[in-house]
Amino acid sequence: MKILIMNGPNLNLLGQREPDIYGSRTFEEFFNELRGAFPGIELEYFQSNHEGALLDKLQEAGFSIDGIVLNAGALTHTSIALADALAAIPAPVIEVHISNVHRREAFRHHSFLSAQCVGSIVGLGLDGYRLAVSYLLSTAAAQLDKSSPPN
Ligand code: DQA
Repeated sequence: MKILIMNGPNLNLLGQREPDIYGSRTFEEFFNELRGAFPGIELEYFQSNHEGALLDKLQEAGFSIDGIVLNAGALTHTSIALADALAAIPAPVIEVHISNVHRREAFRHHSFLSAQCVGSIVGLGLDGYRLAVSYLLSTAAAQLDKSSPPN
């Protein structure tokens, strides 16, 4: 089982960027901990500040990977191209936002991506990524159960 975690623009600055909103941990530190929490699965991390690079990664991974956890940052609220890429790929995608976007500025309330995702987790901090991985794992296990022959 392989899951890709993708972060969009400015999320490379976690730990330094507006810590009152996004916390004081770096994503690299959190990601090491996440890997430790899910030893049985392959977790890959990709971050880019560039919309095109995110599109390329979704197209490259989205046809073969078991699941994607995506925090597209501000591109969530602007990118029809990312929404189209999500619609094009078969991999299940969970949208994550560290902050509760609905308690912030109105321009953060709309996501072009949500409709193309299995679900969204917002406002639960970095824990949202862990919950998303856990969900993808449990749904993959449930699918295996369904496809195995009855005893
Ligand atoms: C964010 C919320 C977005 O509105 C913002 O542009 C981000 C981070 C979050 O994780 O809370 O860059 O996606």
